Amino acid sequence: MDTQDIIQHFAEQTHPDELEQFDRASLQELVAKHETPFMVLDLEEVDYQFKSLQAALPNTKLFYALKSLSHPELIKRLKKLGSYFDLATIGEVELVESLGITGDQCIHTHPIKKDKEIKRALEFGCTRFVVDNFAEMQKFYPYAGQVELIIRVSFRSPQAVVDLSRKFGCTLEELPRLVDDAAAHGISVVGLSFHVGSQSMSPMTHVNAVRSSVAAMKVMSHVDWKFLDIGGGFPIVYQESVSPIADFCVPINEALAELPQGVDVFAEPGRFISGPAMIEVVSVVGKAKRGARMWYYLDDGVYGGFSGQMFDHAAYPIAPLKPFDPTGEFFPSVLAGPTCDSIDVVAEDIELPELEVGDILIGKQMGAYTIASATEFNYYPKPKVVVVEDIFDPESEAL
Ligand SMILES: Cc1ncc(COP(=O)(O)O)c(C=O)c1O
Repeated sequence: MDTQDIIQHFAEQTHPDELEQFDRASLQELVAKHETPFMVLDLEEVDYQFKSLQAALPNTKLFYALKSLSHPELIKRLKKLGSYFDLATIGEVELVESLGITGDQCIHTHPIKKDKEIKRALEFGCTRFVVDNFAEMQKFYPYAGQVELIIRVSFRSPQAVVDLSRKFGCTLEELPRLVDDAAAHGISVVGLSFHVGSQSMSPMTHVNAVRSSVAAMKVMSHVDWKFLDIGGGFPIVYQESVSPIADFCVPINEALAELPQGVDVFAEPGRFISGPAMIEVVSVVGKAKRGARMWYYLDDGVYGGFSGQMFDHAAYPIAPLKPFDPTGEFFPSVLAGPTCDSIDVVAEDIELPELEVGDILIGKQMGAYTIASATEFNYYPKPKVVVVEDIFDPESEAL
């Protein structure tokens, strides 16, 4: 993709206001105030993403998956919006607790836990846990009467960028035996869950998983099913276009309409809410012509805010902040991170106008699985996060 394509691609993003994120004047103001590298978390964008998904899944309770981005300001905003929370670790339990969220607003979705993690979540008041195997079920024997279990089923997702069902989830064949094991120990099983994989490009993966779950619930009609948790996986635009979320969810809602009466629906979105809410601002700190290509060395890379390129298989749209002539000359370029490691390359074979040391670049869609997995390799600090109410609003001050 060349730079013009990238700019065009920005114009095609999820909603027209997104273009304004590239309101260069507002960004220049932020650059004047903050040293690069830094990330900008836009709370207005959090509102937009949450409300869009809630409108697309009107009968579904949204449990935000903290693991994608756990910035306290984002969590506080989601709490205000009426979101629930999906937790997986003691750290996440303690973070939401410190922000005034209560256990009944949360589910604990990690299929593998230490006893101390179960105890800490219970002490917090979170009583709904996910289980997907017999060894895990045994850990709950002492807590019969105190917990409600959701059994996670695996549905493989070759179309997802990150196929989470490789690692977690029981088979549909194992499911009745797990349900029986729970019943034999006086433990209530109240729901089923699945995760079709992150950045799932086709809604049919959700649809098929919903249909199989509905069928399983109907076969095991002796269980008092209260919930179906359809996980996360809702996609956002990186380099490839994706369906608008309203369209993406139409067949999913149709499949959900077949659920037995009285079964509530949960979802655990992470990326869809956090991804578009953050951009990263970096500077060119060095340049060299190596062979036919220009190499630009940035002050952050794959060990920092761009870590999702390694762990999350993401390729973020990135473009220079300075105005340039789209009909001018472009050169094959490489954008490299600052560390001494040669894998630290952010973009290869990108066509760019000539950049100078000190020029600013903006990476977009950088909220999910970015700073969350950043390291301080080479003693480069992680980029700081500047929180704004609305990046489009020139009056908006950093919070
Ligand atoms: C159990 C669970 N729920 C929710 C999520 C969030 O998924 P996504 O970011 O694709 O919405 C994940 C991601 O790894 C997960 O493991």
